[in-house]
Amino acid sequence: MSTAEASAAFPGYTRDTIDDQVVNPELYADEDEIHALFTTLRKEDPVRLMKPRGFRPFWSITKHADIQEIERQSDKFVNRLRTYLSPVEGEEWLKATVGDTHLFRTLVDLDDPIHYKLRNLTQSWFMPPNLKKLEERIAGLAKDHVDRMQDLGSECDFVKEVALWYPLRVIMQLLGVPKEDEPFMLKMTQEIFGPGDPDVTAATDHKGDDDTVVFSGERGQSVDLAATAQALFDYFGAITADRRKNPKDDVASVIANGMIDGQLIGDREAMSYYVIVATAGHDTTSSVTSGGLLQLIKNPDQMAKLKGDLSLLPGAVEESIRWVTPVKHFMRTAMEDYTLRGKTIKAGDGLCLHYPSGNRDEEVFGEPFKFKVDRTPNRQIAFGYGVHLCLGMHLARMEIKALYNELLPRLKHIELAGEPKNTRANFVSGLKSMPVRYRFA
Ligand code: HEM
Repeated sequence: MSTAEASAAFPGYTRDTIDDQVVNPELYADEDEIHALFTTLRKEDPVRLMKPRGFRPFWSITKHADIQEIERQSDKFVNRLRTYLSPVEGEEWLKATVGDTHLFRTLVDLDDPIHYKLRNLTQSWFMPPNLKKLEERIAGLAKDHVDRMQDLGSECDFVKEVALWYPLRVIMQLLGVPKEDEPFMLKMTQEIFGPGDPDVTAATDHKGDDDTVVFSGERGQSVDLAATAQALFDYFGAITADRRKNPKDDVASVIANGMIDGQLIGDREAMSYYVIVATAGHDTTSSVTSGGLLQLIKNPDQMAKLKGDLSLLPGAVEESIRWVTPVKHFMRTAMEDYTLRGKTIKAGDGLCLHYPSGNRDEEVFGEPFKFKVDRTPNRQIAFGYGVHLCLGMHLARMEIKALYNELLPRLKHIELAGEPKNTRANFVSGLKSMPVRYRFA
């Protein structure tokens, strides 16, 4: 497609800008802008070869059915070669500093059979029968956090005071991390997911180059991710040693003592496991908790409906997850030539699965841009699909439901007290600030 043709098909964009915009962290901080781009792509070019400046080319997959088609075939489309979007310079930097194209080798960076064996170690821990045992503990934590909001008076930043801390507390309790170490874990997660975000780089103890493109896709100050990874490895190394000596009833003990093919799990695998549970387990859930509440505030009819009938809560949680879709993409690499919607994807090509786009697909969702607490069916794919389907999805749903279940009946009124702000990140992002004014009953 020439630049002129591209401009005609994509009003407001030239070919270069479409390709650059889809990796631009700035765009992901503006819900309307990113969805305008995805809507155009779904309509005009749903399987599109993108060549953004500074990145290796990749196919953008924006339709719900296509994301599922790719994820279903995990032997043909693998995870290990490229997990998420990263500029070439960032990939080279990682290779030079950690000797690998991946910062960690977590479940999402691996393929079967090793992926399956590792996942199997904790799978039953995260399934509903085991989680049922945690219901009371999670409801207690939800109550503590809503009490805290009430104690703060009539105004607070819901993200900074409640939404960030609550899922962190849950996952850290399950992992067995003491409360006093939670601020450290929160900082490490934010460094991994938003290493180019100005608020993150201002607060980090791991300052990187002041003129780099590492991960953020743009030049500027970035976090030194090798230093962040080392800090996490040191921290969890001590936990592994402890749980091998004194196993407890927590996920850390299951990981530290996990056996693969008759051998104790390797140190790097164990570290990577903690890291994915610790990081994937709270930023995502926190973004949905605050993003769902924002939609309830913006749609008073939906808030009234939900408050009037709390049996709608599971559906409201599902709709909040669809709406926010905090994981913006995962990558796959084709192992053989494959034809999708008439386009030939070559062996070795990268594919970027844009979950937020799949979750607004007009062919799957009626009125996809309306937030409806009673949406049925709701085939949202924010948790992905296939063998890598989110391990923590039942936990995430349970946590969000517990918080709303505590908060909504106690709230008499809530409104925005300032402009909500999103993080600038093209991988995992969501609200970083949402000032609210409220009255408790
Ligand atoms: C994987 C989303 C919460 C742990 C994933 C994937 C997505 C995702 C999109 C990749 C799926 C794929 O490639 O098909 C979310 C969202 C969450 C959430 C939207 C919250 C609303 C959690 C929580 C945990 C967790 C609470 C806690 C343990 C994991 C793990 C994987 C994963 C371990 C890797 C699974 C694998 O590769 O086999 N998640 N997640 N996530 N998630 Fe979550």
